[in-house]
Amino acid sequence: MNVYDSARMADVLAPLGYAQADGPEDADMVILNTCHIREKAAEKVYSELGRLRQIKEQRTEDNPEDSGPLLAVAGCVAQAEAAEMLARAPFLDIVLGPQTYHRLPEMIARAERAAKKGAGTKGRKGAGVLDTEFPDEAKFDHLPRARADAAVAGCTAFLTIQEGCDKFCTFCVVPYTRGVEFSRPGQAVLEECRALVEAGVREITLLGQNVNAYHGAAPNEGATGVAGTTWDLAELIAQLAEIDGLERVRYTTSHPRDMDLGLYAAHGNCEKLMPYLHLPAQSGSDRILAAMNRGYTAAEYQASVAQLRQVRPDIALSGDFIVGFPGESEADFEATMELVASVNYAQAYSFKYSPRPGTPAAMLEDQVPDDVRGERLQRLQALLDSQQQAFNQQMLGRRLRLLLDQPGRRPGQLVGRSPYMQAVHLDGPASMLGQMVEVEITDAHANSLAGQLIFGAQGPDLQPTAAMAPPENTIGMERII
Ligand code: 5AD
Ligand code: SF4
Repeated sequence: MNVYDSARMADVLAPLGYAQADGPEDADMVILNTCHIREKAAEKVYSELGRLRQIKEQRTEDNPEDSGPLLAVAGCVAQAEAAEMLARAPFLDIVLGPQTYHRLPEMIARAERAAKKGAGTKGRKGAGVLDTEFPDEAKFDHLPRARADAAVAGCTAFLTIQEGCDKFCTFCVVPYTRGVEFSRPGQAVLEECRALVEAGVREITLLGQNVNAYHGAAPNEGATGVAGTTWDLAELIAQLAEIDGLERVRYTTSHPRDMDLGLYAAHGNCEKLMPYLHLPAQSGSDRILAAMNRGYTAAEYQASVAQLRQVRPDIALSGDFIVGFPGESEADFEATMELVASVNYAQAYSFKYSPRPGTPAAMLEDQVPDDVRGERLQRLQALLDSQQQAFNQQMLGRRLRLLLDQPGRRPGQLVGRSPYMQAVHLDGPASMLGQMVEVEITDAHANSLAGQLIFGAQGPDLQPTAAMAPPENTIGMERII
């Protein structure tokens, strides 16, 4: 979501003449968009700020006319620690939360006025403009319709449809930093998606902290629409799938409690909905799940997985796990290992529990020692890695449809995403970027696959174009034409 937010900040700033700079050395402004979810992420902000301060001071030293870049911190660390942050980093010009970035132009005007006054004084204090409110007006209503990032990013894009969270898991800061749950109206989402598709986007990832709790206002379509009704996520996906040119839809992150029949059904009947789901379990112990306030048991989680696999047997599952939540015993941890073994993940993220200030779990007495957390994390990650490896291995020899979304590291190499979210490397001309192609998987690694283009044996909507001519000088290409 921070990637999406950063892109939207660029949209807000474009009319002011700002464009992306190559680095902080030649920038007029630097915005750090920050994450507060775990301590490690939050601490990085301060080390990065130290580096930026030096750049700012150096620029003033080199040229007294240059007051250096305006320094801003955005996002959830700013939201949670605004006052402390200004005290620790008095050289900051702007501190803003995730719900106020549509007001950046006003903040910049204030900060620039202050910077002009103080320009040339080494070590001058920053403007200290602060805006971490949860405003009544939704920021989305004030963001430009055009997405400047679409043309740049190419064929895939994030689209926030829901923000905030009312679930209050006892370990989590999100309800405090992102605010209450909010769903964007269906019409606004459709319009943003259509604009992205017009700009060349073919795959959209719908975002929300609790994306499957989505309940946005349904457009009131005259005689057929009923005012006051809402769309849930499955209905929204069905509407988005109608957009010509949009090939793929994904969504993240889901809460197991909000999986419903419509959404299971969508995984079975919506072709554009990709067979990949990130469904965080967090733990496999019912005792710990209750202490986390997750609202489901391990058996209920497994039932969700079974239902998904019934409608979409090949669905790739991903998850999040926290080890060493306060009070987690060896037996609780073993229950997590058992859940993982029974689900068999295609890919997953796992973290040591990180006490977050102000959350209920941080106040609990029986914190698990760091070495125990570390040791459990290693065991869990070894199991998850072996599952990921096995999932990738089973792709060998299979034909997969890819959306080629990035150039590779080497010249002549491209990277695409499989339906199951795997990165697949292959040889092909840059002119094929943005296209859907079919490949045969020739190699499987821990974190990616390698494949060869299949020409002529296209899938249902794969139209060979001039751009799909095989690249020149590509060894081995003749063999498969
Ligand atoms: N400690 C460790 N991991 C956390 N997460 C959220 N809060 C914490 C915390 N305090 C993890 C959860 C969540 C993911 C985004 O980050 O697994 O799903
Ligand atoms: Fe945090 Fe997700 Fe729990 Fe909400 S549902 S409190 S975002 S972990």
